[in-house]
Amino acid sequence: MSEDPELEARLAEQDSFEPPESFVEQANVSDPEIYEEFEENWPGAWERAADLLDWKTEYDEVLDDSNPPFYEWFTGGELNASYNCVDRHLDERGDEVAIEWVGEPTDEANRTYTYRDLYDEVNEFAAALRALGVEEDDVVTMYLPMIPELPIAMLACARIGAPHSVVFAGFSADALATRMNAADSDYLVTCDGYYRRGDPLDHLGKANEGLDGVGHDTETVVVDRLGDDGFGHGLGDDQYDYDDLVAEQSGTAVEPVTRDAEDMLFLMYTSGTTGEPKGVKHTTGGYLSYVAWTSQAVLDVKPEDTYFCPADIGWITGHSYIVYGPLALGTTTMMYEGTPDYPERDRMWEIVEEYEADQFYTAPTAIRAFMKWGSEYPEGHDLSSLRLLGTVGEPINPRAWKWYYKHVGNEDCPIVDTWWQTETGGMMVTGLPGISTMKPGSAGRPLPGIDARVVDAAGEEVDAGKAGYLTVNKPWPGMLRTLYNNDERFVSEYWTEYSDTDSDDPSDWVYFPEDGAKIDDDGYITVLGRVDDVINVSGHRLGTMEIESAIVGVEGVAEAAVVGGAHEVKGEAVYAYVILEDGYEGDDEMEAAIVEGVEDAIGPIARPESVVFTPELPKTRSGKIMRRLLEDIANDEGLGDTSTLRNPEIVEDIRESVQD
Ligand code: WTA
Repeated sequence: MSEDPELEARLAEQDSFEPPESFVEQANVSDPEIYEEFEENWPGAWERAADLLDWKTEYDEVLDDSNPPFYEWFTGGELNASYNCVDRHLDERGDEVAIEWVGEPTDEANRTYTYRDLYDEVNEFAAALRALGVEEDDVVTMYLPMIPELPIAMLACARIGAPHSVVFAGFSADALATRMNAADSDYLVTCDGYYRRGDPLDHLGKANEGLDGVGHDTETVVVDRLGDDGFGHGLGDDQYDYDDLVAEQSGTAVEPVTRDAEDMLFLMYTSGTTGEPKGVKHTTGGYLSYVAWTSQAVLDVKPEDTYFCPADIGWITGHSYIVYGPLALGTTTMMYEGTPDYPERDRMWEIVEEYEADQFYTAPTAIRAFMKWGSEYPEGHDLSSLRLLGTVGEPINPRAWKWYYKHVGNEDCPIVDTWWQTETGGMMVTGLPGISTMKPGSAGRPLPGIDARVVDAAGEEVDAGKAGYLTVNKPWPGMLRTLYNNDERFVSEYWTEYSDTDSDDPSDWVYFPEDGAKIDDDGYITVLGRVDDVINVSGHRLGTMEIESAIVGVEGVAEAAVVGGAHEVKGEAVYAYVILEDGYEGDDEMEAAIVEGVEDAIGPIARPESVVFTPELPKTRSGKIMRRLLEDIANDEGLGDTSTLRNPEIVEDIRESVQD
């Protein structure tokens, strides 16, 4: 880790920071009264978010809470998300840049789409999808990396009222098949491949393998990203070339379909406690207003900005804060293909400098990597265009926060540490950058209108400084509406711990995000991490059960337990404890088979950091695997309470094999 004695000395002691005056003067939101405004006029104050959109039909009611937890927002309202993100900007900003795309290899011409270009592309692809047979409410799956066709396809779907389900390109063929089957999705948009660290990657091969596992007929559109670098798969039956389809629709305009505020905009599958991913459903009116509002209030996005969030659109951060929020506000949003360390470890800073980015919004895992690589990389570039920095995805430790503040922000940019989830649609707990004092390590107060609390197991608010559980005690427009085709699981996953599920009174219904947290005397919340069997690797959510079932699928494995252990850069890493069947050896070959099994079932992000072969797993007397003990071993921190353990001696055995 690069040391900076001056920074250490001056910043180490400082535990709160005021927003820079230069920022406050121009902030989109700078009046602290906004908190009271929401409190006094709740839910009416949410009109502020809805007012950021163009509605085809005005809504009748801000919130319909007559059937909790199935809340409805802006009921009776009608709109189209593609119209709001594209068409309505044409008059004033048609020639301004909507999407700035930086591809890899870096000597390739980058692509710039003005709002007018985006309009043309979205219309033509919307027409192509229709010609292919896509109808309103058909789920279209996208298995695409960071190329411009991804947001174009998302907006094309939104235009014709077909919900999209984007599957992260780094996920495996199996993961694609599971999601297409779960959503009963007949259409796939994918590509031949993409570049990473200088090499072309075969993507269509993986997509085809996934399609083999889909139990119904499908039609696939394939984007040609690699040209001559392609892998020569060719197109199979029911597979179409993107460019051909679009060329047939050249100049075609598609009237944006009128969608009800509560109509589904998209589905996003995310990891949960059980093995099966959850299909989180987001709607057109509530979600879009919420991400537009939070982009404006928290990220301080203005139409003339160049906004850079180097996340992947395959995750919720990219949906909300690369595509929908920034485009709804008519700004320039950036996308890049590749990795932050190729061709050099200054790739991010080169992009910020060249495009004069105003905002930079990334994950703590990236900041820890930047810090490890050294401050010479950001310092070698002119980053003075930056006005605001943000973080998302996992807790950020004060040391990393301060490094970011000093070496990227030049002590001149507020940092917003934003706590939220796939399910919340947008940011929930974070400071308002023109108003809030920043405390490194703490996300801050809940946003105006968000009733987030830290409670004990009985639901009572805990005292300042005590650890408890985070809850959200009132609904919000960006909230998930249900889990796709599974209302029951929606209620049981999020609304049972702290709710009176027999009640019709919304005040008896409390959303439980499954995060631990602390609160201080000023109401600032520090999120401690997941309290369920979900681990957070490099800011990506993975279910331990999903990984375990991949491991037990490997020949010779009898049982497996997976936990998250602390990791310097990734935050958490996957540790797997494995019992083999008789006759199998815990050797390098077996370890490689397990790693491959996990990569095949989920993807390289879930690859175990370490595989420990053990003759037994620590279990409670009732037979439950004691994950906390395994976590302690992974973190090498004491053993905790082993009094309920059925097989206490096993813990020492495991500890020894970890140390080998
Ligand atoms: C964690 C990502 C601490 C948390 C947008 C949450 C955070 C999970 C923060 C959701 C933060 C997200 N501080 N922890 N600022 N932001 N988390 O669904 O555990 O991929 O429950 O959404 O990430 O991950 P998801």
